[in-house]
Amino acid sequence: MPTAMRKILVTNALPYANGPIHIGHMLGYIQADIWVRFQKFRGHECHYVCADDAHGTPIMLKAQQLGIEPEQLIAQIKESHQADFADFHIAFDNYHSTHSDENRELAELIYTRLRNQGYIKTKTIEQLYDPEKQMFLPDRFVKGDCPKCGATDQYGDNCDVCGATYSPTELKNPKSAVSGATPELRQSEHYFFDLPAFESMLKEWTRSGSLQDEMANKLNEWFEAGLQMWDISRDAPYFGFEIPDAPGKYFYVWLDAPIGYMGSFKHYCNTTNKADFDDYWQLGSDAELYHFIGKDIIYFHSLFWPAMLKGANFRQPTNVWAHGFITVNGTKMSKSKGTFIMARTYLDHLDPDYLRYYFAAKLTSRIDDLDLNLTDFAQRVNSDLVGKVVNIASRCASFITKKFDSTLAVEITDRTLIHEFQAAAEPIALAFEKREFAKAMRDIMALADKANLYIAEQEPWQLIKDPNRAAEVHEICSVGINLFRLLMIYLTPVVPALAQRVQEFLNEEFTWDSHQRILTAHTVRPFSALLQRIDMEKVNAMIEDSKQQNEAPAATRNGELERDPISPEIQYDDFAKVDLRIALIANAEQVEGADKLLKLTLDLGGEIRTVFAGIKSAYAPDQLIGQHTVMVANLAPRKMRFGVSEGMVLAAGPGGDELYILNPHEGAKPGMRVK
Ligand code: 2FM
Ligand code: ZN
Repeated sequence: MPTAMRKILVTNALPYANGPIHIGHMLGYIQADIWVRFQKFRGHECHYVCADDAHGTPIMLKAQQLGIEPEQLIAQIKESHQADFADFHIAFDNYHSTHSDENRELAELIYTRLRNQGYIKTKTIEQLYDPEKQMFLPDRFVKGDCPKCGATDQYGDNCDVCGATYSPTELKNPKSAVSGATPELRQSEHYFFDLPAFESMLKEWTRSGSLQDEMANKLNEWFEAGLQMWDISRDAPYFGFEIPDAPGKYFYVWLDAPIGYMGSFKHYCNTTNKADFDDYWQLGSDAELYHFIGKDIIYFHSLFWPAMLKGANFRQPTNVWAHGFITVNGTKMSKSKGTFIMARTYLDHLDPDYLRYYFAAKLTSRIDDLDLNLTDFAQRVNSDLVGKVVNIASRCASFITKKFDSTLAVEITDRTLIHEFQAAAEPIALAFEKREFAKAMRDIMALADKANLYIAEQEPWQLIKDPNRAAEVHEICSVGINLFRLLMIYLTPVVPALAQRVQEFLNEEFTWDSHQRILTAHTVRPFSALLQRIDMEKVNAMIEDSKQQNEAPAATRNGELERDPISPEIQYDDFAKVDLRIALIANAEQVEGADKLLKLTLDLGGEIRTVFAGIKSAYAPDQLIGQHTVMVANLAPRKMRFGVSEGMVLAAGPGGDELYILNPHEGAKPGMRVK
């Protein structure tokens, strides 16, 4: 049944431009991407935008640490984010930055409208100031002893040990995390957005009935606690947009971040003419607007953002959809366990469609956390996608190709099962629409079971032995291919790359409505394996890799722009414990199955050591053999997946192919101690 064309704008939370995307982030992007692909597939006008969230103190300080301009940092990070998204098949129509002209104009416009309506107030506040760095310190940049339990080295907003929350001025023995200086209290005038003025409007939106239950409950808690004025200004130095008419004052990053949704869309409208900005954002717009976010930023999206839009005379979001967090193997992602997996590390080992399917198989419209159990992940993908779905095609395609000239039967008389699969389109579509992806996947896999049962019962491999029954075999296999095709149509938003290969095999381009057709007398292309099973070895290699990234010095972190801050001071005795030696690289070789490691044989002047070094992307073995370098000779041996590593060589650089081993001056002999 054709549905009326809808106009939809979808956004994902904007990732901060100061670090790489990890698989926890990926959940929300995959969820929204599936939903968007589904809408487009159904023929709706749907636009999907995102951007890097480029402003704020952490980004400013990180750039300083790296000795580069913030503009340079955010440009590099944006590139890596976009590569990660593209490789996970997250198909944004536009990916922008909050540090853009469009965003500046919109932020100024919204602020000015709010100010002219009387929603901006000023107030002088007291805040901790770093006299050395000459800057006010955000809560997370002050450390000290917890005022409740006395635990040392706690952040300025809450205590990790006893869970108390407090203001940074309450910390005992506060220190600036930026310079180590003792902060002092200073006064400054701040700008505030009058959130309480929007209380009744926000309450009405909560009662609209379309919010997720958990979100409505949260909002009610906040209403009960009482809405507060929101501090939207920060003093220089700050990386962001200066507030019009307030020199030296900048918009707080969270003011212009959601405006970044509009900024990205505006850039898209201006550069492609595929949509009209006002049509989507003006008051009374008939377009739908959805924000997909993580549960940690509900406050910003369900209170500040609708209120800002209202006060500045723009339309309201149709809905804000929050998702939970992921755990890996039942616990929080952990660097030491190797379960803090970067998007790029995943991609180095595994097909993104696997993770897309697994997330889909577990996602509901609720805000529950989702566990990525890696054993279950491999079993589920192997049993569902490979064992059930792709298997249908594998069982039928070879007969079609070899015996029937790659062409499906002209007549399919028994259409019962095909009709049943076609009739499932509506309930499956409804589940996609409601973000009940797990239900959609269950329905699809239940059908896949039926298809496999059908083929098992018909036994075409037996019938084919009887030359008189070839027509039956032709029809059975044609039914099988049609059933497979229908399932793949339904799975297209979830596993786009697999679906692409299937469309090539079927010699056909899918739309959602393709399910209404039955393929007869249709020629297919040669069949090749459509999807590999997940090999647990690869999953383990990914974990090992993640572990190594976190254990290795920052210099070996692939692609991560990071210069570690100078470590806390140590005494000479601490240094003297490290036995550094000149080593001759007697041999260097590739390690089968390792993406980053080379196996080095080091000669310490008679003593031979084997060391696995994460320098494969920077050096070919031949470049290393015969070189002298420096190694840590008394590091406890570490058992790695490929063998025991008996020490560590020293290398400098940001990582990836930019990594440089240390060479001593000529004359230094293997075995000499470095002092
Ligand atoms: O929490 C975060 O990662 C923020 N960068 C999300 C911003 S979403 C939107 F408001 F821009
Ligand atoms: Zn405490």
